[in-house]
Amino acid sequence: MKKIAVLVSGGGTNLQALLDAQSRGEILNGEIVAVISNNPEAYALERAKKAGVPGYVLTREQYPTARDLTVALVNKLQELDIQLVVMAGFMTIVTEELFQSYANAIINIHPSLIPSFCGPGCFGLHVHEKALAYGVKVSGATVHFVTQECDAGPIILQKTVEVLPDDTPEVLQRRIMETCEWKLLPKAVSLFCQDKLVVEGRNVRILQ
Ligand code: GRF
Repeated sequence: MKKIAVLVSGGGTNLQALLDAQSRGEILNGEIVAVISNNPEAYALERAKKAGVPGYVLTREQYPTARDLTVALVNKLQELDIQLVVMAGFMTIVTEELFQSYANAIINIHPSLIPSFCGPGCFGLHVHEKALAYGVKVSGATVHFVTQECDAGPIILQKTVEVLPDDTPEVLQRRIMETCEWKLLPKAVSLFCQDKLVVEGRNVRILQ
């Protein structure tokens, strides 16, 4: 059974999707054993508490540099014997120590079809504002492995939705969350925990 930590900063709807999938028995060979937030006020911590999963807080203010925060995070992950790190709306800068310690074992969810509308500064509603401004007819979500380069690691799963003529960034964001993110993330986590994801350069092969 692989031990999973979910890193959060905010509302935690993706965390909730993972917890719900776990309670339905859909995370095969994995267990969420920790939720770690950089924001003590994150509602995600409340969701963890309700599900009986221990929550931990590491704020940027507690550490002189981003590197010090990252080292503390890696120490906590190792102390808890974590094998998979899931970034589910985790909004703080971390440094190479995390990627080195958890190479091909950190998964992120991004609310666009990477390589569109991603990269530094492209988060939250900005993603959907950019997609609408560009005039794309489909958007979606991507689950990928995390590497040092922002939003550029090997892609695990993607799912599309239609962009509709009257969409606002908020409406599109919600449609992508409901129809893509909350389904893709638990699926990718379960595949990882079953050792079904094989990274070959930029490509991720999914074993049947
Ligand atoms: C999601 O849109 C996710 O794709 C992005 O951050 C947002 C987090 O939302 N990385 P929530 O905290 O899971 O509700």
